Amino acid sequence: MVRPWFVATLLFLCEAQGSPQLLRGESEYLKPEFKEKYFSQILDHFNYNSVGNGTYLQRYLITDQYWKKGYGPIFLYAGNEGNIWEFALNSGFITELAEQERALVIFAEHRYYGKSLPFGKESFHIPEVGLLTVEQALADYAVLITELKKDLKAQRCPVIVFGGSYGGMLSVYMRVRYPNIVAGALAASAPILSTAGMGDPAQFFRDVTADFENYNPACRDAVKGAFEKLQTLAQKEDYAQIQSEFSLCKTPSSAADIHQLNGLLRNAFTLMAMLDYPYKTAFMSSMPAFPVKVACDTMLKGNDLMSALKDTVGIVYNSTGKLTCLDIYNLYIECADPTGCGLGFDSMAWDYQACTEIEMCFESNGVSDMFPVIPFTQQQRELYCAKKWAVLPRPGWLKTQFWGDDLSTASNIIFSNGDLDPWANGGVRKSLSSSLIAINIPDGAHHLDLRGSNPADPDSVIQARKQEAQVISQWVKMERMKHRSHDF
Ligand SMILES: *[C@@H]1O[C@H](CO)[C@@H](O)[C@H](O)[C@H]1NC(C)=O
Ligand SMILES: *[C@@H]1O[C@H](CO)[C@@H](O)[C@H](O)[C@H]1NC(C)=O
Repeated sequence: MVRPWFVATLLFLCEAQGSPQLLRGESEYLKPEFKEKYFSQILDHFNYNSVGNGTYLQRYLITDQYWKKGYGPIFLYAGNEGNIWEFALNSGFITELAEQERALVIFAEHRYYGKSLPFGKESFHIPEVGLLTVEQALADYAVLITELKKDLKAQRCPVIVFGGSYGGMLSVYMRVRYPNIVAGALAASAPILSTAGMGDPAQFFRDVTADFENYNPACRDAVKGAFEKLQTLAQKEDYAQIQSEFSLCKTPSSAADIHQLNGLLRNAFTLMAMLDYPYKTAFMSSMPAFPVKVACDTMLKGNDLMSALKDTVGIVYNSTGKLTCLDIYNLYIECADPTGCGLGFDSMAWDYQACTEIEMCFESNGVSDMFPVIPFTQQQRELYCAKKWAVLPRPGWLKTQFWGDDLSTASNIIFSNGDLDPWANGGVRKSLSSSLIAINIPDGAHHLDLRGSNPADPDSVIQARKQEAQVISQWVKMERMKHRSHDF
C-alpha cells in the first residue's frame, strides 16, 4: 500500500515548483484553493478513562470555492497513510466533481500521519502508539464532519466520502459504520478483501508480474533471469561482484544484506506497476509516463541482465540521476507490509497498522511471479510485530468488524479498480447489488480515476469517472429526498 519515498516525494514537489515542465499536465491539481486548518479532536473515542478528555490537533484541508452554501453536498476525503496534501494534490477528480455538484470539499488527515501526530515526536512510543487504530480514525472523521456541519450551517448537506487505496477501505468502512453520517462512498482501489486476510498470498506479486508480462513476456523472463543471476552470485558469496553490479554503497556481507537487496529491487517493480499512469507523475514516487513500458524497454536493452536490472530499478530510486551509489538500508525499509511502508514517521505508523489490524501476508515465490522467493507468513509477521511493537496481530479482526465479503446489507458504495493495479484483485471486482457497484477500468493503475482529467487519459477511465459522477449525483438526490420526507 506503500507510502514510499515520502521524503523523496517532498523533495520532488519542491523541485517541481521551479520546473514548468513538471507542472504541465499537473496544473489542474493545483487549482483548488485549499485552506489548511486544525480541528481539536478527541484523542480516545472509546475509553473515557484512558486519557481523560484529552485532545489532539487533526489537520484538514477545506475549500468552499465551488460550494453552494448550506445546500451543496460535502465531499469528504478519508485521509490515508500519509501527508494529506499528497492526496489532495493527486485527487483532482474530486474537485472537478465538486465544481459540477457545487460541493464543499474536505480532505481530512489520518491520525498519526503527516502533521496529525497526537503525541508529537513521542507518537510512536509504546504505549502512545496504541491510539492508532482504524476505529479511532473512522470516529475522527465522523466527529469532524458532524462538528463542521454545525459550524458551517450545513446540517442538511449530504456527505459523500472518497478515498483511494487504504483511504478507499476507510470510505467503505465509513459507509458501513456511520451510514447516519455518510450517504455514499467511492472506494477507489480499495483492497478490502486481501487486507482482511482473504485471498491468495501469491496474488499481489503475481499481478505485479502480469503487468510486465502483458507488456512483453520477454520482460518478465529478463527480470526473472536477472534475479537468478543475483541468487547465483549470492550463493557463491561473491559479494564484491554484487556490489559492483548494483553500485551498492557498501559491500554486502551476509544473507540478511542480500535479503534486503532483493526486497529493495522487488519494491521498485511494485511501485512501477501501481503507478503505471499514462503521464508523468509525482505521487508516492517520481515516475515517467508508462513506467512499466519504460522499465521493460530498459530491461531488454543490451545483453547484461544484471546491469539492465540496476538501470531499471534506477527509474525509481535514481529518478534525479544524482544517486552516486545505492544505499540499500536507506532507500527501502523492510516492515510488516511486504509491498513497502515508505520512509520517515509515516512508515512507522503504517508498519504499526500492518502489525495490528491490516493483514498483508503477501509472498513472492519465483514460480507464479518473477521475483526471488520471499515468504511472509503469519508466523513471520507475529515474530516481527512482537519484537518491533510488542503487539500480536489479530488475524480476522478486520473481517469481523467490517464484514469481509459479506456486504449484502450495505448500500451506496462504488468499488472502482484498475486492471493494471496489483491491489485490484484484493478488492471487490463484481457488483454485489444495484447499490454496491463495481467499476473496472481496464487501462487504469492504482486509483487513476481519482486523479484529475488529463489529455493522456484512456477512454476507460473517462467512462468510469462519468459513471461515478452519475451514481454520486443520484446518491445526493436520494439523501435530499430522505431529509424532505423526514420533515412531514
Ligand atoms: C478536561 O477535564 C478537566 C477536569 O478533569 C478540566 O479541568 C478541563 O477543562 C477539561 N478540558 C476540556 C478541553 O474540556
Ligand atoms: C544514477 O543515474 C546517473 C545518470 O544516469 C548515472 O550516471 C548513475 O550511475 C546512476 N546511479 C546509480 C547508483 O545507478
